Amino acid sequence: MPASNNSDARRYLDLLRHALGRDRFPDARYEMSSGSLQLMPFGPALRAQGRDWPLEAVTMVGTKRLENLENCCCTVLEEGIRGDFVETGVWRGGCGILMRLVLATTGDEIRKVWLFDSFAGLPKPDASRSQRPMPCYYRCASCSHDSLEGPL
Ligand SMILES: C[S@@+](CC[C@H](N)C(=O)[O-])C[C@H]1O[C@@H](n2cnc3c(N)ncnc32)[C@H](O)[C@@H]1O
Repeated sequence: MPASNNSDARRYLDLLRHALGRDRFPDARYEMSSGSLQLMPFGPALRAQGRDWPLEAVTMVGTKRLENLENCCCTVLEEGIRGDFVETGVWRGGCGILMRLVLATTGDEIRKVWLFDSFAGLPKPDASRSQRPMPCYYRCASCSHDSLEGPL
């Protein structure tokens, strides 16, 4: 049964989102000001929008995007769209945890959740690969591609 039709699953996922994003269990946030890292108090509006660097939350996307991610996963399941879930750029893993638990609450034991990260921030440019065209993963106004295909 899709999570969106199951009130226990909905409540569980609500609690999970708030625990992952720490908006109901506030932590602090880092701020880089004048060249040094400072600890600042929790800012609810920043956390909602995913515009802070959390001290302890396991995702920095913020609570609104977490909700959107859950809704996207549920839509995929409800509409029977095939395929695994993937997150490129995982950081502390909160979005991957949410995707995995959406699958668990719906009893989907087939799909996998793939997580990719350098775990070392943005890698330095590699001159030997600079001649390759950048793959385009999404449709955007400034882009003529309309395919999701591209090398990972
Ligand atoms: C903004 S954070 C991702 C936030 C994460 N989605 C979340 O829920 O909090 C970006 C992540 O992407 C990774 N990253 C950035 N560029 C990368 C690259 N070219 N290849 C692999 N990982 C990369 C970084 O190590 C970092 O963990």
